Amino acid sequence: MSRIAGKVAIVTGATAGIGAACVRSLAEAGARLVPTGRRGDRLQALADEVAGNGGQAHPYVLDVRDRIGVAAFAEWLEGEGLAADILVNNAGLARGLDPVHEGKHDDWDEMIDTNVKGVLNMMRALLPGMVARDSGHVVNVGSIAGYMAYPKGNVYCATKFAVRGLTEGANIDLVNTKVRMSSVDPGLVETEFSLVRFRGNAARAGRTYEGVDSLQPEDVADAVRYVLEAPPRVNVLHMVVMPTVQRSPFVMGNRGS
Ligand SMILES: NC(=O)c1ccc[n+]([C@@H]2O[C@H](COP(=O)([O-])OP(=O)(O)OC[C@H]3O[C@@H](n4cnc5c(N)ncnc54)[C@H](OP(=O)(O)O)[C@@H]3O)[C@@H](O)[C@H]2O)c1
Repeated sequence: MSRIAGKVAIVTGATAGIGAACVRSLAEAGARLVPTGRRGDRLQALADEVAGNGGQAHPYVLDVRDRIGVAAFAEWLEGEGLAADILVNNAGLARGLDPVHEGKHDDWDEMIDTNVKGVLNMMRALLPGMVARDSGHVVNVGSIAGYMAYPKGNVYCATKFAVRGLTEGANIDLVNTKVRMSSVDPGLVETEFSLVRFRGNAARAGRTYEGVDSLQPEDVADAVRYVLEAPPRVNVLHMVVMPTVQRSPFVMGNRGS
């Protein structure tokens, strides 16, 4: 029997990639899902798929940058009897790959507002209920970019350093509660991430994954599920997961080998 069966799990950024894979995996474990993201059609399709497989999903259109919208979402959850047991803070993005002295302010704002403030908005809205119930688990999706910056990754990497710092800080703040705080920090995962980074340039995005046996979104969802399934006495603070071919942000095995 899964330890998360019947639990309410909120997943941000559930319209694609890792977030969608988390929704499928946690639903399979019997959790009651609340997939969120900005593209409502995709959320609905995912919720229908989950329901078709005998699971439960309540889609909710949400931009994690919208602090007021996030607060309204938290109220909606309470009103629907969907008090959050699990929050997977996954929504995130990179924009561009410029040296910092040529970076674009709008790209910086979008990354910082989504990856850092978005995570904070969600934690601020949902953690009070978890603390009051003395129960809950937050999993932030960080990155190996949060341990070591890579060339031209400057601001994106800084946002993921911030996610690691927020995970560690919140973890300390939650001492003397049963609320757990974790991060899952992946290396290269084949998703729409590069397509977003290069603003729809599929050829450029495709080169990121060419000849590399990258992680698939399901591999990261497996890690998230492992962290959530751990017994209540166990808190995985950080779990770093990379493709076998990738040994650090700088050490990638030969492509195609
Ligand atoms: N792919 C990788 O190699 C990799 C490696 C390490 C870490 N990560 C991290 O993994 C997480 C998921 O990325 P992914 O690789 O699965 O990329 P993806 O396929 O592009 O998915 C990103 C998701 O984030 C959502 N999102 C973006 N901005 C949002 C906003 N303002 N409000 C709500 N949702 C928003 C998108 O949904 P909407 O556009 O519909 O809102 C989408 O569902 C990110 O935090 C990323 O930094 C990725």
